[in-house]
Amino acid sequence: MKVNSVEFVKSAIKPEQWPKDALPAVAFAGRSNVGKSSLINNLLNRRNVMRVSRTPGRTQLLNFVLLNKKMYVVDLPGYGYAKVPMSLKKQWGPMIGRYIAEADSLAAVVHILDIRHPPTKDDIALLDWLQELEKPTILVLTKADKLSNNQIAKSRKVMSDTLDLPTDAFTIYSSETGRGRDELWSRIDLAVEELRARKAEVAAPQAE
Ligand code: GTP
Ligand code: MG
Repeated sequence: MKVNSVEFVKSAIKPEQWPKDALPAVAFAGRSNVGKSSLINNLLNRRNVMRVSRTPGRTQLLNFVLLNKKMYVVDLPGYGYAKVPMSLKKQWGPMIGRYIAEADSLAAVVHILDIRHPPTKDDIALLDWLQELEKPTILVLTKADKLSNNQIAKSRKVMSDTLDLPTDAFTIYSSETGRGRDELWSRIDLAVEELRARKAEVAAPQAE
């Protein structure tokens, strides 16, 4: 995807506030402070379209950005930072979960993990839930600039064993260096194409 225009549209939480046009959307989810907002900025070639912070919990609403006037990129608040342990559902589910479950033009959820740490219970709960919903999911291991190639290979293996997924299910990313950018774009482009195909199929079902 060539990034031509990037326009911050709005921050929202309630379904009434979600964009009403049926443009495809891709949402970015993951633990607090994992690097979601940084990754979106890197992907969109913009320094500050999303706010980045060292302090977890920076993103607190759903942030909608319109890309090339034809799709939405949605930055979601992170989960798993409460001092008191809480279930993913209680803390994060009712607000953001609703968007993921109900937004009808959501082409994919990009689920971001920190390449240095094994998946948390919350990460696994999110992944299970996305599978249950049959939401197309793109897995990304970010902050790869913090590890050597050897450590990256090891982490890929740990992730794939823990989550029971093939090793090539993960896109290795760094928002510092831009590593993985092209690969992630091709996965996103494919998901958007597949959503279009599904919608066309619903609009004009093939005669049996
Ligand atoms: P919340 O909105 O609080 O959920 O956080 P977030 O997931 O949006 O994380 P954010 O992008 O704000 O980044 C958190 C911290 O990680 C910041 O200090 C970033 O500079 C740093 N960071 C993010 N991505 C990378 C990366 O690829 N490499 C390195 N070295 N640091 C990164
Ligand atoms: Mg953020």
